[in-house]
Amino acid sequence: MSFALQEEVAPIPRGPLDFPDSPLSRAVRQPLMLGLFLNLQDIRFSNLPTTSSWTYDYNAALVQKADALGFDIAFSRTQWLPKGGYDGEASLDSFVALGAMAATTKNILLISTLHVLYGPWHPLHIAKIGTTFDHISKGRWGINIVTGHRAIEHEMFGWNRIEHDRRYAMTGELFETLHRLWTDTENYSRAAELGGWKIVNGYITPKPLYGRPILVTAAGSPAGIDFAAEHSDLLFITSPGGSHIDSALETLPAHIADIKTRAAARGRTVKTIINPIVISRDTEAETEAYLNAIMDNRPPPSPTSFGHRGYDSDAFAWRGRNDPRHKQGLNLGGNIEIIGTPEQVVEQLIGLKKAGIDGVQFNFYDFAVDLDHFAETTLPLLKSAGLRL
Ligand SMILES: Cc1cc2nc3c(=O)[nH]c(=O)nc-3n(C[C@H](O)[C@H](O)[C@H](O)COP(=O)(O)O)c2cc1C
Repeated sequence: MSFALQEEVAPIPRGPLDFPDSPLSRAVRQPLMLGLFLNLQDIRFSNLPTTSSWTYDYNAALVQKADALGFDIAFSRTQWLPKGGYDGEASLDSFVALGAMAATTKNILLISTLHVLYGPWHPLHIAKIGTTFDHISKGRWGINIVTGHRAIEHEMFGWNRIEHDRRYAMTGELFETLHRLWTDTENYSRAAELGGWKIVNGYITPKPLYGRPILVTAAGSPAGIDFAAEHSDLLFITSPGGSHIDSALETLPAHIADIKTRAAARGRTVKTIINPIVISRDTEAETEAYLNAIMDNRPPPSPTSFGHRGYDSDAFAWRGRNDPRHKQGLNLGGNIEIIGTPEQVVEQLIGLKKAGIDGVQFNFYDFAVDLDHFAETTLPLLKSAGLRL
């Protein structure tokens, strides 16, 4: 009996991580990816004077500096809040602003948070704008996929909040379609289903340079993690134990193991990133003085102020913050809090790496000043510790 030799067929590339020369593949080779979590949306949690600002010029200059320092990622949040917001002054749209930064940066990945269900967007719009930013940035641009967790945001768009898991089902349908539009070499048609849109002979050219733009999901629920396991390269996570570094280090390993298992079940890998706020000065006394100045200048709480959770949210991702079983942080704006001298900051980052984190995106209270301090004092220590190539 003889068998015909089966020809080896190369797997179809599915995304930027399937291309060893893509900007994302380069970034994930770092032992710990470094990013900035920009303030394009102003959240004011202290009145201590700061240079931080929501303006485009301020944030574009920061991203240029981070790019020159070898940082891997720039990100921003986006929310749709009524007047008063989180007591902040204003916010720019991160889809447009991060895309625009492609023109003034070289290597850094630019990730735009997008509420993919609001509008509703037609998939052809996202596919075409996405491929345009992909080409301008040479494969450095991506979407942070969010589905909208506050009732008030959905209502702003004219409907009642869509049920939690249905949002991820709708988002799955949307991204299956986007994948077809970004990769198919023939026209693509699809009948109306969950999202209500349909496509007749849709076609997008040019194709993105590395299969599709970079895809990130910011989520904490089983449905959100499953969506990311299926579609995303990076999962932007929170600490299930809330914002204190000790409870984060205790609870992250099991959370990350669950994420990796869900991705592996689909034959995929997903990297995890988290956003700490870093409060650091050269000595413990100086760090404490800086922290106290921030805390002493907190505005009186109002229903809309950051951390008071005045808006009705059904997100899983932030539940650890209200859990009395966990040691809680100071509510400083970051997802977790890293406070200390440069040596202590590095120790905490080593802890996060050991907990399974692949990348961090820093919030700073005073972005320009604190990024300079980090670059001068902490970045060299991170390199010596083997966390940066
Ligand atoms: C780290 C992180 C950052 C997020 N950033 C945003 C954001 O900028 N805007 C937003 O509307 N939602 C943001 N979200 C919330 C998601 O939109 C999502 O709606 C929410 O986490 C609910 O999903 P979940 O139940 O899967 O956690 C973020 C979530 C995480 C985990």
